Amino acid sequence: MEKIISYLENNFDNSVKEFFEYLRIPSISTLDESKDDIRLCASYLQEKFKSIGFKHTEIIETEGHPIVYAESLEAPGKPTVLIYGHYDVQPVDPVELWDSPPFEPEIRNGKIYARGANDNKGQNFAHIKSLEAWNKIEGKFPLNIKLLIEGEEEIGSPNLEKFLHTNREKLACDAVLISDTSMYADGVPTINYGLRGLAYMEIEVTGPNRDLHSGSFGGAVANPVNELARMISKLQDERGRIQIPGFYDDVLPVTPAEKENMTSLDFSDEEYKKELDVKELFGEAGFTTLERLWARPTLDCNGIFGGFTGKGAKTVLPSKATAKISMRLVPNQDPKKIAQLFTDYVNKIAPDRVKVKVTDLHGGSPVVIPIESKAIGIASAALEKAFGKKVVYTREGGSIPIVVEFVRTLNAPAILMGFGLETDDIHSPNEHFRVNNLKMGMFSSAYFFDEFARNF
Ligand code: BES
Ligand code: ZN
Repeated sequence: MEKIISYLENNFDNSVKEFFEYLRIPSISTLDESKDDIRLCASYLQEKFKSIGFKHTEIIETEGHPIVYAESLEAPGKPTVLIYGHYDVQPVDPVELWDSPPFEPEIRNGKIYARGANDNKGQNFAHIKSLEAWNKIEGKFPLNIKLLIEGEEEIGSPNLEKFLHTNREKLACDAVLISDTSMYADGVPTINYGLRGLAYMEIEVTGPNRDLHSGSFGGAVANPVNELARMISKLQDERGRIQIPGFYDDVLPVTPAEKENMTSLDFSDEEYKKELDVKELFGEAGFTTLERLWARPTLDCNGIFGGFTGKGAKTVLPSKATAKISMRLVPNQDPKKIAQLFTDYVNKIAPDRVKVKVTDLHGGSPVVIPIESKAIGIASAALEKAFGKKVVYTREGGSIPIVVEFVRTLNAPAILMGFGLETDDIHSPNEHFRVNNLKMGMFSSAYFFDEFARNF
């Protein structure tokens, strides 16, 4: 192991330069105009997989963006690990708030700034480099590896589920290793054992058949922006309780053991407020911040638009208004059922004076992973070797929709071993990844393969 770690250490500066090539490809999955860049990114990865020692690599077409896949099954008698990650990234807007261009990576204060630096290119690149080190030093990988990096995670993995179902044999493995989550705090090795699910909805409200002068018509006809705002205000009360009938029916309460774990993590509301520059926190009454983030469902308006949104003032009574609303879900809520409850409720509160259309954009199921498994024990041991510290177990407020499908379809445990920080501004301007966490990711990955090959 020492040789592998030294190799990673000695080549680290070059690895960072190489990482920048990956970051320069603007692989934004949600934008039609990024299609070619998505393909470029897939080819880049395929070449990379070849260069680190995979003889079998594929670009697998889907109805959307391609999956990049590689396998090395040359370790008979050894376990098989499937590594999952995503090469697609979120859009960059508002681009004017970036201190350096999102696809021109730059290091400032020990942090790599670029879209995808953390989510998820940096985290999957750590595994790529650790595999390369294994191959360079030992001439082979210590176990069987399947590597699957997809291009549609940020849009809800719409085509991956089908691929999993039709490729059970191909993807069969003893564990799925995923680095796409955060550490509890910098320098604290973390295994994440839960992700929230998601139901993402759009409400479109239409009033008059065209934009109108707000003086000539205002007061005589309903304004879709006003109506939409009124409807949104009925989705949640002032104590943070969601008002959709049946919304909480399937929510599993936080167990005493989990409560104890969360308390032991000594989270500071004061520091959290300071970091976010807010006077008060807000969430569902009766729960702590960690409970609200990890184990309670939420509803948030992600965007609202309609009418005039430019600089200055323009008097207009708009014809249309739209809101994008997400609900984060927890076990055992079902995204399809929640989407239906949402649609029914919005239609019920919609006034007759406007037309209201509700669309289910995408969803994903929540997941909780038992931490008592052998695979998680091995991952913890590897992290403790890399960091020289005890692992903590956390849940995550964010979602990775496909995780639950991996667990169900492949019947293998998922190991969520992330190296990001909640403060890395993923999805926001100035996304970054600490240089040192890229390195710790590489070390942890290298130790993990060793431990898993020997002990599983
Ligand atoms: N890497 C994130 C998941 C995550 C979020 C980890 C927050 C740690 C903190 C993942 O790429 C992501 O953003 N998922 C989306 C899924 C959605 C688009 C279906 C999310 O959570 O919004
Ligand atoms: Zn993301």
